[in-house]
Amino acid sequence: MRTEHAPTIQRADYRPLPWTVETVDLHFCLDAEATLVTNRMVCVRQSSAGDGPIQLWGEALERVALTVDGGAPAGLREHGALLEIDAEGERVVIEVQTRINPRANTTLSGLYLSAGGFFTQCEAEGFRRITYFPDRPDVMARYTVTLEAERARCPVLLSNGNLLEQGELPNGRHYAKWEDPFPKPSYLFALVAAKLVALERSVTTMSGREVLLQVWVEEGNLDRCEHAMDSLVHSMRWDEETFGLELDLDRFMIVAVTDFNMGAMENKGLNIFNTKFVLAKPDTATDVDYEHVESVVAHEYFHNWTGNRVTCRDWFQLTLKEGLTVFRDQQFSADMLARAAGPDGAASARAVKRIDDVRVLRAAQFPEDAGPMAHPIRPDSYQEINNFYTATVYEKGAEVIRMLHTLLGQEGFRNGMDLYFSYFDGQAVTCDDFVDAMSEANNGFDLDQFMRWYSQAGTPRLKASGSWDAGHGSYTLTLAQHTPPTPGQEQKAPLVIPVALGLIGPDGRDRPLQLEGEAQPGAGTRVLRLTESEQRFRFVGLDAEPVPSLLRGFSAPVILELDEDDGRLAFRMAHDSDPFNRWDAAQRYAERVILARAADPAAGLPTAFRAAFRSLLSDEALDPAFRAQALALPAEPYLLERMSPADPAALRAALIDVMATLGRELAADWLQVLDRMQVAGAYRYHPGDAGRRALANLALRYLAAGGDAVGLARAEAHFAQATNMTQRFGALAALVQSASPARTAALQAFHARYRDDALVLDKWFALQAGAWRWDAAAAPTLDRVRVLLSDPAFSLSNPNKVSALLGSYFRANPGEFHLADGSGHAFWADQVIALDARNPQVAARMARALENWRHFTPALQASIRPQLERVLASAGLSADVAEIVGKALAQ
Ligand code: TRP
Ligand code: ZN
Repeated sequence: MRTEHAPTIQRADYRPLPWTVETVDLHFCLDAEATLVTNRMVCVRQSSAGDGPIQLWGEALERVALTVDGGAPAGLREHGALLEIDAEGERVVIEVQTRINPRANTTLSGLYLSAGGFFTQCEAEGFRRITYFPDRPDVMARYTVTLEAERARCPVLLSNGNLLEQGELPNGRHYAKWEDPFPKPSYLFALVAAKLVALERSVTTMSGREVLLQVWVEEGNLDRCEHAMDSLVHSMRWDEETFGLELDLDRFMIVAVTDFNMGAMENKGLNIFNTKFVLAKPDTATDVDYEHVESVVAHEYFHNWTGNRVTCRDWFQLTLKEGLTVFRDQQFSADMLARAAGPDGAASARAVKRIDDVRVLRAAQFPEDAGPMAHPIRPDSYQEINNFYTATVYEKGAEVIRMLHTLLGQEGFRNGMDLYFSYFDGQAVTCDDFVDAMSEANNGFDLDQFMRWYSQAGTPRLKASGSWDAGHGSYTLTLAQHTPPTPGQEQKAPLVIPVALGLIGPDGRDRPLQLEGEAQPGAGTRVLRLTESEQRFRFVGLDAEPVPSLLRGFSAPVILELDEDDGRLAFRMAHDSDPFNRWDAAQRYAERVILARAADPAAGLPTAFRAAFRSLLSDEALDPAFRAQALALPAEPYLLERMSPADPAALRAALIDVMATLGRELAADWLQVLDRMQVAGAYRYHPGDAGRRALANLALRYLAAGGDAVGLARAEAHFAQATNMTQRFGALAALVQSASPARTAALQAFHARYRDDALVLDKWFALQAGAWRWDAAAAPTLDRVRVLLSDPAFSLSNPNKVSALLGSYFRANPGEFHLADGSGHAFWADQVIALDARNPQVAARMARALENWRHFTPALQASIRPQLERVLASAGLSADVAEIVGKALAQ
């Protein structure tokens, strides 16, 4: 077993460096196997930080030369990746030359090759794989960069900021020189040298400056860039209108790359994107892909202010930029949807976006908060920072910002943002700085207790109970909160929880809310502030016992525990004026039905549930996108965490049974919906059309699950006649998730059509790896996953392929992954070990699929434990995987 674990870094240990960097002058002589990097930096003493040597980090590089003020350093020591250099005086010039091998770099961190081009990824600690540098976000310097490469292979040479000059060199080489006028941390450095073409657009900013926008892609993809460009222009306008924030450069570039560890990266002026979040055209991208392109383009663009102009002091503050930027991109998407829906549909459109976001939070963040990796949005320690780009830091972080927005109001929040930028522009700061600015801009609004959201891990439970006093017409609501212990945090203090509440009368209408002691009744929804372990709220002036609707719009990232009988859930499904809560009532009811079925396979589908489900299905007054959300069952990973012990096989059997029953018994309704939801004319990406297509695809899913001949024939016909990817993939997914014998031929036809399209093949891999067993006689999905692993289009080196095939199997298909004979778990260990040798970040992500193994049945735990141990004991294991598996096995 591995004994030397990576050291743990503590937030409390932060110290400023004794030396910082003012300017960096980089020269790259690019070569696939031996790139020479010359780095000339002006280092300046920070007297406030005390005495000490210059500290530089370097990893996976060869040091060719190093001088201090042109000579040999007075003293130089190496401790692992850290280089310490003794220096005198206030400022010195260090020149260091390193040689690196981009082709050998399979980690996709630092400088690497993808499809023959050179690309960089420096967040979080990749810059030290390029040159020696004080590679921390609190070192902000001004960069000039010269790139030199072979013109034929790399006609395009890009880096951050503005192009100063370019020209020819002997031997078929050329160069370009770039300058970034804004000081930045090293994690925002980027270069691209490749054979690319650009879609260009010129726009005028709010202050009247003309700026050049470019989307760079491989030549054959130029017809897939329009939507990314439109999304960029919309994001720019939105940030101007909503926050008064303007683009600060003359040129803004987006570059698409095939091999990339994450979604995209906000490098200053040179955003680098995973191709899947740039490229979109009707024949290859679904409506959901279009949505993702829009929100990721927005996210990275918004980082220019929240992340780049104001950055993080240290990596523990990651949520300062990520939580805030996710919140901003969520608001942007909601505004875009609302605008497209028009005044009458705006509220429903916003709710649909909110539902999407909460689904992600519940499926990804709640399980994280309940397992060995649970951490506050601002963690206190880590072994490998790359493991902390988590759903907690991002999605729960965004929820925390949303609560601030709720507590302070739109205008108060905007004032806080303005003050934040006025204080901290050009600096590397902390989450406290942000919250302090919010408080100060709002007359000293007390946010001391609110700060616990930054320091406490775990999902709070909100317990609610009501009592009706008919004699006085009063209703008393008791709210209590409790956060379960998480690793290293036994005791939790009460949080500030904004609880948006409505009280619904027997007629289905909201009652005006009047707290005891108030002179006037107020609005139908109001936000209560729960700050104690338990509080009571007494509402008066009511004509009948109300049904409470709590946490409207999901006003806080908590689990609501409320005893509601089936009747009340059905009532709220039909009448709650808050569309989010209407959806949530449907989810709760479905969860109850599915879990009952998992516990007792003989339990039938309750007629009342069927009826409530059916009335949503056929309610033409409801927007189709909303109906599609309300009729989709809760996510399997979320349901699994709601089971104790988690039994994936029983849950899968219940899901199959419930879906098949709803498909079969409501077949006539589904067929009618399917026909009504057809969209005529050529494909355009429009949220209204997308909602109709989503509902039509859901109808096909249920019909295929139901398994009768008419439904299956419709799925086949839709597949054959589809005129865009949303329809084609929707129909294919319906066939694959069914017992239809046509599924194999459909997969083959799809493959034949898109055999040369990497992004579409990812869908083909994902669909097969995610396949359920609808036909009891069928072979386990694992057999097919093994075959696909040696498909010529598959590669363990490409993160998109890994997540399509292995991610879909390990994370999205628990019913097939957790096979009773343990073969899925052994396969998992083999793949994690194989991946770790190439790309630790991706391996660690796959490793996380088993972190909550202690929630499973004893038999599954017994099957998983030896595989976790095998991974931990494997030679040369990365710190990334060691942290995940080590924590999973601890206790
Ligand atoms: N900052 C990026 C974002 O959220 C995240 C990111 C992109 C990243 N690539 C990475 C983080 C590689 C760690 C490693 O927008
Ligand atoms: Zn981000």
